[in-house]
Amino acid sequence: MRILFLGDVVGRSGRDALTAQLPGLRAALRADLVVVNGENASHGFGLAPDMARAFLAAGADVITLGNHAWDRKEIIPFLEQEPRVIRPVNFPPGTPGRGAVVVDVPGNRRALVVNVMGRLFMDALDDPFRAVQAELQRHRLGQTIQAAVIDVHAEATSEKYAFGHSFDGLASLVVGTHTHTPTADHQILAGGTAYQTDAGMCGDYDSVIGMQKGGAALRFWRKMPGEKLAPAEGAATLCGLFVETDDATGLARRVEPVRLGGRLSQAMPAV
Ligand SMILES: [Fe+2]
Ligand SMILES: [Fe+2]
Repeated sequence: MRILFLGDVVGRSGRDALTAQLPGLRAALRADLVVVNGENASHGFGLAPDMARAFLAAGADVITLGNHAWDRKEIIPFLEQEPRVIRPVNFPPGTPGRGAVVVDVPGNRRALVVNVMGRLFMDALDDPFRAVQAELQRHRLGQTIQAAVIDVHAEATSEKYAFGHSFDGLASLVVGTHTHTPTADHQILAGGTAYQTDAGMCGDYDSVIGMQKGGAALRFWRKMPGEKLAPAEGAATLCGLFVETDDATGLARRVEPVRLGGRLSQAMPAV
């Protein structure tokens, strides 16, 4: 299975780049499954239902969220109707929406996608490790599902690596989101799971993690409330990674970075 994962879409810049580029990118990579993190799509804070519909129409199969899941309140009823948009699985029991979804993939295949939030330097939710373990135990990789993708929305590199190694051999891909900066450690772990600590964002990199640089920097100089942060508006780089898996095992054969447009050096897997 060919899987494209794209990191946090930030603001109008990220949305415009995604909706314009994803159809061509999906075709060029002949992707079977596309997962996009959409938690910052709405002016940096949350995801509005019309944006989710636009991402799905542009070629996303699943949209994941994160700590900004609830910033746009309209998403709450929408999550009940649209199982392809998921929020972190380790919110307390009774939280609206779902943290995992199984989607059909061409070729009579199925893929599990799980979104989970870390606890280090973030709001403490339920145990993320046991929550993901419980989701994976409902399926058999290589049998009832041909792929499993875990979006680990977390701040700390250590927690993300702990996730990668904990589920090595049990998932096709463990990829980090939330820090909005692509790391250069994409690899196939010893047990066959593709891994990258952070996918990076789909946003303008002439910024402080997607937000206008002047106002964001002032917050560090002056320890007092400043202007409300707004997303940077320059051309976005779509950032993420491309994974090829073996349907018989669900494990990775290849993982490569994707960086398209904007200021970052470009990276495009040859397919
Ligand atoms: Fe984010
Ligand atoms: Fe986040």
